[in-house]
Amino acid sequence: MTDQMVHEQKIIDQFTRWAKPFAELPIHAEEDAMAMTLSACAVADDMAVLDVACGPGIVACALAERAGRVTGIDLTPAMIEQARARAEALALDTIDWQVGNATALPFADASFDRVVTRYSFHHMPDPAAALAEMKRVCRPDGRIVVIDATPSAETQAAYDRMEIVRDPSHTSALTLDQLLALGEDVGLTEATVTGYRLDALLQTLADEADMAALTALFEADIAGGEDRIGVGARQSPEGIRFHFPVSIVMWRP
Ligand SMILES: C[S@@+](CC[C@H](N)C(=O)[O-])C[C@H]1O[C@@H](n2cnc3c(N)ncnc32)[C@H](O)[C@@H]1O
Repeated sequence: MTDQMVHEQKIIDQFTRWAKPFAELPIHAEEDAMAMTLSACAVADDMAVLDVACGPGIVACALAERAGRVTGIDLTPAMIEQARARAEALALDTIDWQVGNATALPFADASFDRVVTRYSFHHMPDPAAALAEMKRVCRPDGRIVVIDATPSAETQAAYDRMEIVRDPSHTSALTLDQLLALGEDVGLTEATVTGYRLDALLQTLADEADMAALTALFEADIAGGEDRIGVGARQSPEGIRFHFPVSIVMWRP
């Protein structure tokens, strides 16, 4: 097995276990964040849209309410099962689901008006390869939208350490500058940036087995008072709360 295959198996293992909880977690469909995502995507009812690493289809289904045709592709079959169930429950019949890899998209050049991915680049050993593929399948007058956590340069290493405890398929969350540089490297233009802070409760986001280590990490961060992980961790009556610092970057191909 190559290193890439080993990593992809980690992703499939993680998101097979987490497919259902991820699909049901309210923060992943949070209204204000979704409104900003939809605004960046700016889809119309005659457009073909691709959601790369679509997971349980939360963004794809929201896009399908507005687009002509949506395709969702993901590496993890259990996620595609969740996506199919979601579309069926919402009576959406304009979405095609596929199991496949973002770094080798099984679509013709220039076949989509919008190519979107959310919360996926931080799982990829080579996000540039995925972004290049997203550019290839996007029409010249289309838009490419990447949504992901972007820690500051000062907090990136601590943020990655925290995420790897929570999720062994985490590689690295790019800073906004690194993400913009990736866009330039693959030849994308006219970057526009927005973003949001996604507030979360720690105990809803990790396996029981990882909770002690994670809690210790967050408690040390809170006690230090310097926000070294860069997520505004704090105690609350329900448990430890923090936010994901999320950027939305839209480019022209
Ligand atoms: C955190 S989930 C995000 C799901 C969805 N995009 C969302 O925002 O609700 C990350 C997803 O990326 C998928 N993924 C990771 N690497 C991938 C790759 N190389 N190709 C396709 N999917 C990938 C995983 O299977 C998982 O479903």
